[in-house]
Formats: sequence, C-alpha cells, structure tokens
Amino acid sequence: MALFQAIVVEKTKHSSEMSTKNDAPVKIGRWKNQYIDLVAQCEEYIISFPNRGIPEDARARFLSETENWPRIVVEIGSGSGGHIIEQAALAPEVLHIGIELRFKRAFKTAEKAQKRGLTNVRLLRANARILPEICSPGRLDGVYVNFPDPWDKKRWLKNRILNPEFLEQLHGLLSPQGYLSYKSDHQGYFAETLSQLEKSGKWHILHKTTDLYSSELLSRNVPSEFELLFKSKKIPIGYLLAQKIGAISIPDV
Ligand SMILES: C[S@@+](CC[C@H](N)C(=O)[O-])C[C@H]1O[C@@H](n2cnc3c(N)ncnc32)[C@H](O)[C@@H]1O
Repeated sequence: MALFQAIVVEKTKHSSEMSTKNDAPVKIGRWKNQYIDLVAQCEEYIISFPNRGIPEDARARFLSETENWPRIVVEIGSGSGGHIIEQAALAPEVLHIGIELRFKRAFKTAEKAQKRGLTNVRLLRANARILPEICSPGRLDGVYVNFPDPWDKKRWLKNRILNPEFLEQLHGLLSPQGYLSYKSDHQGYFAETLSQLEKSGKWHILHKTTDLYSSELLSRNVPSEFELLFKSKKIPIGYLLAQKIGAISIPDV
C-alpha cells in the first residue's frame, strides 16, 4: 500500500505545519489530527466508527469482513499493535481484530500489518463498548485485554472498560470454548477483575499470576508495547486466562 511508504508524518506541537519525511511541510489546521485522514485512507485494514452511533455501512462492512473467517480473536485497546500483530503472525488462519480509540495507534497497527504482509488483521477505530452491538453472540474465539487504562481515582472507576456488565457481554460474544486473556500492571484493577470473573460463576480461571515475569506462564507470552515498558521498569504484571465454564477443550494460548 503506497500510503504507508509515502507518508511518515511528524507533527510539531505548537505550529500549524506537519512535515512528511518525503515531502515539503504541508500546512494543516492548528489542532487537526492528521491521522483521521490517514485512517480514512486505510480502508483495506481499518473500519472507522464515529464516536456516537453505528452507521449501517460500517456495521455491514464489519459483517462482510468477518463472515468468512471460521475463527476470530479480538484485542480491546490494541494500542500500536505490538501484541496483535505478533499473534496474527503466529496464527494466519485466525482473523485478528484490534479495537482502538486512537487514530494514530490504529494507523500504526495497520502500517505494521502491511509491512509484515499480514492479511488476517483488521482494526476497528472505535470505542470497544460498541462490540456487543456489531458482533453476533458466540462469534469470537478469544478476547485479549492488555493493560487497559486503570482509571484509578475513585470518581473515575466507572470508566474502566472491564466491569461486570462488559465482562458479561464479552462472555455472550465468546464461543463455547472462548477465552479471555487479561494483563495489567495495576494490581488493584487486576485483583478486581479476577474477583468479578470468579464471582460471576461463568468463568473457569485456567491461569493466574500477579507476576508474569517470575512465573512459568512466561514461555508462551506475547508482549505488548506497554508491557515491554512496564517490564523495563520492573513493574510486576498480572496475567490471567479465563475460559467459559463448560468448555471441553483448553485454548492453545
Ligand atoms: C494503556 S494503553 C495499552 C495499549 C496496548 N494494549 C498495550 O498493551 O501496549 C490502553 C489503550 O486502550 C485504548 N482504549 C482505551 N479505552 C478504549 C476503548 N473504550 N475502546 C478502545 N480502545 C480504548 C487507548 O487508546 C490505549 O491505546
């Protein structure tokens, strides 16, 4: 895709210019996020949803992009794609969908997929809370949530993406063998989510550790970008793998 080769964008914080590595600076509006346009030009990989509402064309595109894949996994808040891209390279027969709010990070992930020649990656530039509205029950084989924003002030707790209601929705979207993989550097958020999963009585916790890098679970680990940062600061990382109760085979993750 020529887009990725031609445009490497750098934005200067206090000026109204953006420069490309290959071109002369281009004037843009003072606060315009140039990645909005780049994401729009990146249709091969990215479906962008507006912040409110779900347009019929975006929903239809999600369905047509996913219908022929027998297996689908989703990463919620996939960031710049370090984790989902490696997972996609390991399992080319599985469609890997990253859902990311930020335009720049969605674009960077698409760029990585294109560079690696991966045809099993799609991005939703969207709020992950729309997932239950666009995805059919039982359609997903796995959900990854890596280092979600912790929102750790008391008045912000309601903003956490993982809460009992969303976990219940994810449970409904997963196939009978479906799994949830969760990592966090925030031990309070990690413990809270673990307790919510256990209390619901709907999940079997296959693995759990509050210190992934001192555990034997590390051998199969695929790190994310934030994870490498926390690891370099020696911050312990909580990890759990949960599966729907009643599953008859253990996921290969
Ligand atoms: C702390 S970062 C972690 C990124 C990546 N998972 C990693 O481990 O490197 C959290 C990411 O979640 C995204 N995010 C936060 N809330 C979201 C939401 N409701 N829907 C989609 N993405 C979200 C943020 O934009 C950010 O990229």
